[in-house]
Amino acid sequence: MRLGEAEVYVCPACKQRMQVRIVQQRGEEVLEGLLACPCGAEFPIADGIPDLVFPRQLATSDLEAKLWYDANADVYDENLHLTFDTFREDEQRVRSRLVDRLELLPTQRVLELGAGSGRDSVLIADRLGTEGRLYLQDLSLAILRHSFPKMATQQVPTEFHVGNACHLPFSDGVFDAVFHFGGLNTFSDIGAFFSEVNRVTKVGGKVVAGDESMPVWLRNSEFGRVLMNSNPLYRYELPLQHLPVSCREVKLEWIIGGVFYVIEYRVGEGEPFADLDFEIPGIRGGTHRTRYHGLLEGVTEEAKSMAQAACARSGKSLHRWLDEAVRQAAARDLEGR
Ligand SMILES: C[S@@+](CC[C@H](N)C(=O)[O-])C[C@H]1O[C@@H](n2cnc3c(N)ncnc32)[C@H](O)[C@@H]1O
Repeated sequence: MRLGEAEVYVCPACKQRMQVRIVQQRGEEVLEGLLACPCGAEFPIADGIPDLVFPRQLATSDLEAKLWYDANADVYDENLHLTFDTFREDEQRVRSRLVDRLELLPTQRVLELGAGSGRDSVLIADRLGTEGRLYLQDLSLAILRHSFPKMATQQVPTEFHVGNACHLPFSDGVFDAVFHFGGLNTFSDIGAFFSEVNRVTKVGGKVVAGDESMPVWLRNSEFGRVLMNSNPLYRYELPLQHLPVSCREVKLEWIIGGVFYVIEYRVGEGEPFADLDFEIPGIRGGTHRTRYHGLLEGVTEEAKSMAQAACARSGKSLHRWLDEAVRQAAARDLEGR
């Protein structure tokens, strides 16, 4: 970890700035030490890699994923071609297109979560220059280590850390783009993952995330059944319900034989815009907002018919007539108190 990067990291638990305590340093690089948070949490730095995993006691699915990738880190790169071979897809081409979706500029600051052995990381790095920054994270240090030699010849300054994609150790709005591919389905809290991703991405920044999911229309086909039998990860459903309200220009596509989804979007601010306050023409009247927020208790059918008849005679919309009638009655009763 470069010394200056202590500015970028925050405590993944409480999001406060942390103090770096150095035990061993080589130039700008902190080799051994720890990041200490005012909340009391401490995160070790060993061999230059901060361990920012939170919570320390991982949820079951995160722990299982970590243990699996720890155990299989050394054969991951050897075996991965099987997935692409199944669908006669060219891995480099597929990954390149995925990374293209980030629409990167060479000077941008990019975060890749669950980066694994760095197969996409090198393609992201190819699109960044010396003025850019790349942050690579994974829950398993064992697999992340396999990305070190791949990244060694890249010109973009790269920071590695061990962490949990559901609890990010970064301040708000520090990244131009965030990328993840391949681990999302088993993240213990997918809602927290997307919410954290949107928090650390600048407004207008790009997010690309994807994983396995057999499309619903193929689940009962032989294609679907055979593949889901070989790889139960295809059984996972799309995580669209977990997208935060700040997602804009959302695109969804199935790739790699049509059994992996990719969700791509830009981060906006809060909910999207809609004019909810213009007067809707017609007998009913009112606005989108008054129709939603202005509902009162129901009245008798007789009272409703009388109100409709009186309203028709007044030439006002039902909304305006009712609003005035309720105001008048309320003012009278409030004054009479
Ligand atoms: C299928 S691999 C994909 C690796 C790489 N992105 C790729 O496409 O080759 C899934 C990765 O997600 C990581 N992972 C799983 N759960 C995680 C979590 N909660 N936070 C961060 N990484 C996680 C695993 O350790 C593993 O490296």
